[in-house]
Amino acid sequence: MKLLVTGSSGLIGSEVVDYFCQQGWQVHGVDNNMRADFFGPQGDTRWNQERLKAAHPSFHHHELDIRDRKAVLDCLATLTPTHVVHTAAQPSHDLAASRPFDDFDTNAVGTLNLLEATRLHASEAVFIHMSTNKVYGDRPNAIKLKELDTRWDYDDPAYVGGITEEFSIDQSKHSLFGASKVAADVMVQEYGRYFGMKTCALRGGCLTGPNHSGVELHGFLSYLIKCNLAGKKYNVFGYKGKQVRDNIHSFDVVRFMHAFFENPRCGEVYNIGGGLTIPDGASPRRWMMCLKRFIKPRLENPSELKLLDGYCHRRV
Ligand SMILES: NC(=O)c1ccc[n+]([C@@H]2O[C@H](COP(=O)([O-])OP(=O)(O)OC[C@H]3O[C@@H](n4cnc5c(N)ncnc54)[C@H](O)[C@@H]3O)[C@@H](O)[C@H]2O)c1
Repeated sequence: MKLLVTGSSGLIGSEVVDYFCQQGWQVHGVDNNMRADFFGPQGDTRWNQERLKAAHPSFHHHELDIRDRKAVLDCLATLTPTHVVHTAAQPSHDLAASRPFDDFDTNAVGTLNLLEATRLHASEAVFIHMSTNKVYGDRPNAIKLKELDTRWDYDDPAYVGGITEEFSIDQSKHSLFGASKVAADVMVQEYGRYFGMKTCALRGGCLTGPNHSGVELHGFLSYLIKCNLAGKKYNVFGYKGKQVRDNIHSFDVVRFMHAFFENPRCGEVYNIGGGLTIPDGASPRRWMMCLKRFIKPRLENPSELKLLDGYCHRRV
């Protein structure tokens, strides 16, 4: 098996590399450390690229920008992979508003470049794309909510397990990031439905794991832990710190990918998340309470944890 992974130095991409190298696959990674350009030195992913190179002789890194159409076409023509996992992205709402061209060129156009290159040079390959629950925009906020001690939850039995893939992605506010991801998500479906390619889009909630180069604008759990260890104040915004998204470990995301590789379909869409696995919710408020209990806070005034307020996440 020959796997091409884009965004291979990032959280999900690197977990994909680790996993499939351990399965004995030949793995090619594409990454240009754009995360450092997006988020500065704390977003730098070179450490992870070096870690992968040292750990896996069957891993080959390609320094390539997925916005570069010719380079992407050449790459697919040369490698002709049997499987593709596309995780390279501009992943932040807030950054997208200040860099809309980079956001759209990476998320939407980069995805089209990869899909078309795969169709032309490796049309039998199974193609998995990391999409996001932001494709639903703010539409889930229309569902009735109830306020609990540490979280908001849906107050409608129809949504007790979250929303399904049938939920509308239309007529809502997405952020520019959400809109560029919608374009990619729909294009991935289209290459499955129109061309019959084996494609799927995974709509993740909050993905986490050991290899995230967490920054304030993206990778909240990684960043929260970093702040905790460094004794830095962690800023949270809005909703009293009670709005939640479920968290799923990067390893579990990759296990799902493997299952799809073994039984691929055309143009599929899956919400992917951890569900209500953390008692009483996964709001930042709850995480802070956990940290306070299990990791000795290094803040000068630990009671500050209680005062931090609000962060906006939803569960899908
Ligand atoms: N992390 C989350 O909580 C989360 C939630 C939902 C969806 N997702 C989606 O999952 C995917 C992976 O997320 P992640 O957390 O691993 O992100 P990440 O930022 O850790 O990894 C993305 C990698 O892509 C690389 N990259 C960015 N632009 C590139 C370009 N133009 N050319 C080549 N490489 C480029 C970056 O350098 C980075 O290493 C993204 O599509 C993201 O939107 C993530």
